[in-house]
Amino acid sequence: MVVDVAPTMTDRELQRFIEHVKVHTGINLDSSKRYLLESRLGPILQKLSLNSYADLLRCVSVESSIENQTLISAITTNETYFFRDEHPFDLLKYKLIPDLLGENEQAIVKIASAACSSGQEAYSMAMVLKEILFDLTRFRVKIKAFDISDEIITTASRGEYSSFEVQRGLTTEKIRCYFDRIGDHYQIKPELRSIVSFSKKNLLKPVEPIEKFNIIFCRNVVNYFEENDRAQLFKNLASMLLPNGVLVIGATEFLNNQFGHFEKKVDKGSVYYEKVA
Ligand SMILES: C[S@@+](CC[C@H](N)C(=O)[O-])C[C@H]1O[C@@H](n2cnc3c(N)ncnc32)[C@H](O)[C@@H]1O
Repeated sequence: MVVDVAPTMTDRELQRFIEHVKVHTGINLDSSKRYLLESRLGPILQKLSLNSYADLLRCVSVESSIENQTLISAITTNETYFFRDEHPFDLLKYKLIPDLLGENEQAIVKIASAACSSGQEAYSMAMVLKEILFDLTRFRVKIKAFDISDEIITTASRGEYSSFEVQRGLTTEKIRCYFDRIGDHYQIKPELRSIVSFSKKNLLKPVEPIEKFNIIFCRNVVNYFEENDRAQLFKNLASMLLPNGVLVIGATEFLNNQFGHFEKKVDKGSVYYEKVA
């Protein structure tokens, strides 16, 4: 039997889902989030043809399972839009990129959009680069974008947006310059798409010896984590940065000295954090 109406979660199931989400994403829900969990997980029972939350709990115990991926995608909040909060993109355009390329136009510049959601942040960065560098093929500048959700990474990789999505943060001129209109959607131009790559990554997991970045934007995610996970996140981000690399976090987020690793700076209306040795 497949359920038509999502059943109510028992208190025990609620606690087990809260624990599961915490362990797998770092996102800190509490029992006041019963409605959020039921409204997001109820439809999953239908989608995966499961009868009960107990069945879902059994399936998600395997980290790589479709059921676990579906649960993570349903729980993560993917709100984002182009040029969100504006100032960080001015910082990138007028300070960070000129500082990195000023002395040597052939310098390799690596930028990360961490917790990138559906890609608007990474593509906004690509638009900034296009605006200041004109011919992107002449420069060695790359953007890598990460997110924990497989589903959102697939969406971001497509670079395809609705008219509502492009109108959130972009002028008509930018839409015309940076997208091809295909039917009722907008496709990011190949030149911008070619400098951005997307992959799945849990920012709380220990950092593998991967390449390091000059600039990391990691915005509007830390507030979902509790203290220990915040410390782990900032430690991981510090180890993903090159010496003097720069971290930009969200407008309502804070990084206090207790986490070490960084020195706070302000420029172009934006706070940023420079990695200290
Ligand atoms: C609110 S969106 C922020 C998107 C974008 N950075 C912005 O500021 O517009 C938060 C994103 O963080 C991702 N996320 C949550 N926990 C994560 C984790 N542990 N590792 C990587 N990404 C995570 C979610 O999947 C979601 O897409």
